[in-house]
Amino acid sequence: MKHLLSVRDLSAHETIEILDIAEEMHEVNSRDVKKLPTLRGKTVVNLFYEDSTRTRISFELAAKRLSADVINFSAKGSSVSKGESLRDTAQTLEAMGADAVIIRHPASGSANVLAGSGWIDGSVINAGDGTHEHPTQALLDAFTVRKRLHGKVSAGKDLSGLKVLIVGDLLHSRVARSAITTFSTLGAEVHCVAPPTLMLSNPSSFNAQMHYSLTDTLAIEKPDVVMMLRVQHERMSSSFIPSEKEYAKIWGLNKERFTGLPESTIIMHPGPMNRGLEIDSLAADSKQSVVLEQVSNGVSVRMAVLFKLLSGDRAHG
Ligand code: CP
Repeated sequence: MKHLLSVRDLSAHETIEILDIAEEMHEVNSRDVKKLPTLRGKTVVNLFYEDSTRTRISFELAAKRLSADVINFSAKGSSVSKGESLRDTAQTLEAMGADAVIIRHPASGSANVLAGSGWIDGSVINAGDGTHEHPTQALLDAFTVRKRLHGKVSAGKDLSGLKVLIVGDLLHSRVARSAITTFSTLGAEVHCVAPPTLMLSNPSSFNAQMHYSLTDTLAIEKPDVVMMLRVQHERMSSSFIPSEKEYAKIWGLNKERFTGLPESTIIMHPGPMNRGLEIDSLAADSKQSVVLEQVSNGVSVRMAVLFKLLSGDRAHG
């Protein structure tokens, strides 16, 4: 495996292999000295054309914990604002000896373009391209659920028998598109619920059941996991919801809906959260919430991805 562009490229076996390596990385991250020499001499570039807190920082930390050199490139404040193209930017990074480029870009398919362009020799990792995919988010989400369900050491385990409900702004969500694929690849039954204006434009190409009433879906399907999606105002060019108040009432995980869930239901959100809109703080800060576990597990999962793509046959123990 040279690139990670889409979770659709990963079989169940390959997905579980990455989660199992992430378990080992998680153990490394619990040590006093959280460092492995595995990627010493390698250079990893974070090439971010869109804002990010969690993904960029956790990729940086993951690469540093594997002893790689890290270059952080943000389009804001770079020569991109002077009109430099993706091709020229990529070739500049190549000239500096990048072994891997981690790209976040507002255009769907940009990671695939970079990987297939021949502009760079190194690996390409998709850190979120438009509304298309966010593969490492889906892997860290699956890792987080597996850890909550199966405990500390869960090597080899899939998510068979699990019911996952993904709620909200599916139309604009690369997180949802990747999550549906990864959870279903691992054997989970995936359900999605959204207002008609924010449903996926091509629902039949996903292995999930689509619904339009959150109240009914929670009552009938009784999901084990509820993943709330961020309402992506920045990708909305017109009005998709009547008002924030209405959205919170009809589509939000508000106090009433949250307290009606069994205590075993796992609550997820990829962040950043719009508190009071798609999720109430009572749910976000509850014991059932794994929002911060998702963040910390992101480091272990991204270490696993970098290890798999860049280590060759170097040992990681
Ligand atoms: N979940 C996620 O992608 O968060 P950031 O935008 O902060 O990276």
